Amino acid sequence: MRIGLLNGGGDCPGLNAVTHGVVGSATKLGWEVLGFKNGFEGLLEQGDYKVLRVEKTEGILKQGGTILGSSNRGHFSSKIGAGGLRRIPEEYMQEAFTTLRDLEVDALICVGGDGSLTTALQFYEEGFPIVGVPKTIDNDLGATAMTFGFDSAIQVVAESLDRLHTTAESHSRIMVLEVMGRHAGWIALYGGIGGGASSILIPEIPFCHERVAEAILQREEHGFHSSLVVVAEGAVEVGGGLVVEDAGTGGEFRLGGIGDQVAGKLSQLTGKETRCTRLGHLQRGGSPTCLDRVLGMRFGVKAVNLIEEKRFGRMVSYQQYHVGSVTIEDAVRKLNLVDPEGEVVAAAKAIGICFGD
Ligand code: F6P
Repeated sequence: MRIGLLNGGGDCPGLNAVTHGVVGSATKLGWEVLGFKNGFEGLLEQGDYKVLRVEKTEGILKQGGTILGSSNRGHFSSKIGAGGLRRIPEEYMQEAFTTLRDLEVDALICVGGDGSLTTALQFYEEGFPIVGVPKTIDNDLGATAMTFGFDSAIQVVAESLDRLHTTAESHSRIMVLEVMGRHAGWIALYGGIGGGASSILIPEIPFCHERVAEAILQREEHGFHSSLVVVAEGAVEVGGGLVVEDAGTGGEFRLGGIGDQVAGKLSQLTGKETRCTRLGHLQRGGSPTCLDRVLGMRFGVKAVNLIEEKRFGRMVSYQQYHVGSVTIEDAVRKLNLVDPEGEVVAAAKAIGICFGD
């Protein structure tokens, strides 16, 4: 048995832990693992891959990034613009199938987010045995309670807020921190609560600048002269639209810039000195947290199990502390968004965090 492994979409802490889990468990079964480079792109032409042996993957569990490379643009992008769907052209599909057949690959594991798993679904629908592993710092995939990478990302957000807190206090300033997450507010919500933000703006709750300014001025009255405001890159003002940094080509829009807009407006409305920091890819870099290492490794082992049981077209899923699986179709059908009426938002509001609504 020979299986292929690839990482699609933006990289994410914990990807190497998945590889570690796949290679370790597949080797025990006597299987060979080919790691395709740069996502689905590695399936083009004669295939760009390396044979992954246990000796080569020893010690990668704790490494950030991915030893295989990844890609969130290119021939196999199934999401474009603001998340619109694109069918992968048949010529690229056929080229990939030829590579897989020539290399005698029996089944493929795709570790990816919403976009890459949509591409994986097309492989399955066209008859190739494939299983998926959910990956994204955004934690926005339906049908899994958590994805690895999210815990590492919120750790970076909380640590950054800790640092911003001290300088904000010294200068009695408002500090705005723009974080990633695309159309989901999970990173802002968890990172913001953990890092002590007084306002958190997320895509799921359209905000008014005036409400946030009011909350900041109320803090002033109570003797708190500095405030931390976390803004998700996909947050939108009531009646406003997404702030896009780059419409890009061959993939999804790149969000970015809302933090600066919010900072400018809050400064105007409160008369306070305000600064904005965009955390950007610092949230995706570095070593995974212990939780993400363990989750990633378990996901890798489960993907090999699914192949062993010939349960193709399924994605590994984490539910109630247990690693199981769901169909890829179910997983990509619905985004996992923050519930504005849910318990986490209610708890945050109960301690006075402002969401701008
Ligand atoms: O999906 C992960 C993510 O980091 C998003 O939070 C962010 O919008 C996007 O990828 C950034 O992509 P890129 O690496 O292409 O700038």
